[in-house]
Amino acid sequence: MNGLRLGVNIDHVATLRQARYATMPESKNAEPDPILAASICERAGAAGLVAHLRADRRHIQERDVERLRQSLMTKLNLEMGNTEQIIDIALRIVPDEVCLVPEKREEVTTEGGLDVIAQRKDLEPTIKRLQLAGIRVSLFIDPTLEQVDAAAELGVEMVELHTGKLANAFTEKIQKEELEQLRAAARAASESHLQVNAGHGINYKNIKLIHEIPSLTELNIGHSIISRAMWVGLETAVKEMLAAMKNYPG
Ligand code: PXP
Repeated sequence: MNGLRLGVNIDHVATLRQARYATMPESKNAEPDPILAASICERAGAAGLVAHLRADRRHIQERDVERLRQSLMTKLNLEMGNTEQIIDIALRIVPDEVCLVPEKREEVTTEGGLDVIAQRKDLEPTIKRLQLAGIRVSLFIDPTLEQVDAAAELGVEMVELHTGKLANAFTEKIQKEELEQLRAAARAASESHLQVNAGHGINYKNIKLIHEIPSLTELNIGHSIISRAMWVGLETAVKEMLAAMKNYPG
């Protein structure tokens, strides 16, 4: 049975639109439209869509999140930093899920997991407010037992394990160590009754390594799928990733 679900991150569809239409993303000529991309992903078999509303609005805009909320047939996972302005937007739009991530203005993409231990006091009220609004909450964390334990103590529904270091490992030794960390963190999270997701840097090649991580429910993948879509089209790119995720041993 293929139990592994795919959430497609469509930020980079908006990145391309913003490259030309940053000052008028709602113009009738503004393309490509992330909402159209989302519906193609759903048709291809994605279990949900992921969008990161960043403080600098470099790709996804608030209006995109509103439109996704209205049009999705599956589920919307809103990635966001823990800031008052973005929390207000999340509470207004009410996505199905929120994944809290660390966010630095100068980074190209999310660079690592949240430090749940150090930020516990700031995270706790946010998690409560989101959950009270009926939103399931995930914390994007590095794969360490300490971070898993801290996440479990905060009462979130899910963690998303950061796979970026595995994806970018320079040597086989680092890759092996990172995979071991991910395996141990996934086991621990599952034992703490957390839903275990994974994401960042997953592509059509390294996906076979992801199969070695136990207890996963969902993968959130963006850059590789949107890039592949340039050559084969989005529907095929999503279907190819789903095929590569098949037969996950669980
Ligand atoms: N999960 C999280 C928490 C992320 O921040 C990102 C990048 O926005 C992804 C998944 C998707 O990563 P990628 O684009 O490398 O597949």
